This record gives sequence, C-alpha cells and structure tokens, in this order.
Amino acid sequence: MAIINPGNPCGNVYTEQHLKKVAEMARKLGILVISDEVYAHLTFGSKPFVPMGIFGSIAPVITLGSISKRWIVPGCRLGWLVTNDPNGILKEHGVIDSIAGYLNISSDPATFT
Ligand SMILES: Cc1ncc(COP(=O)(O)O)c(C=O)c1O
Repeated sequence: MAIINPGNPCGNVYTEQHLKKVAEMARKLGILVISDEVYAHLTFGSKPFVPMGIFGSIAPVITLGSISKRWIVPGCRLGWLVTNDPNGILKEHGVIDSIAGYLNISSDPATFT
C-alpha cells in the first residue's frame, strides 16, 4: 500500500489514528506500506505531521524522503528510503536485498551536484 503524507497537491496531513488504521489494514492484508514523506517538513495548519514509520511494528514501512522539497532543490532528484521494520519481515522476505540490488544499478542523482 502506498500513501503520500503530507499529500501533494492538496496538502492533506493524515492523523495518527488514521495512519494506525492504515498499518492495521496492511497487516491484515499481509502487505507492506510505502510512505512518501517528502513533504514532511512542509505542513500547514494545526495538524501535526506523524511519520508512518512509528507503526513499523504493526506492518513493515518503507519511508521515502527527498532533499528537493525541504531544501528547495527540485532538480536534484536526490532522495532516500528508510525501512521501519523492527520485526525483520522485509529482510526475511528478501525485500532489503532486492532494494540493495536495485541501488547497485544506479545510485546517482540525475544532475551534477
Ligand atoms: C509527493 C512527492 N513525492 C516525491 C516527489 C519526487 O521528488 P524529487 O524527485 O524532486 O526528489 C515529488 C515531486 O514532486 C512529490 O510531489
């Protein structure tokens, strides 16, 4: 299951209760959650941003981040992913090896930085 939180283009921010329900549904379905959080530091309004990774013990979470929004360098295409999986499910099922294999193909940003 993939979520974008905070959302683009509408800027919606999921509550902690909502994210917990997402994690519980992923667990029920036996799937992982990919959480695009590149806008984590650009929220507006009173609702606080909550990282999906805090629910990694319910279902494995892969969190995506990027320098492009927070540091206003949209052309750089330089980001990262973080696994939040205290139960080691991603490792056990070869997901970590698969990601590492892909990164070995190309890990360079698209622009000279
Ligand atoms: C929600 C979201 N995630 C990821 C990206 C990709 O960011 P970038 O390739 O600039 O690091 C964008 C770009 O607009 C975005 O809106």
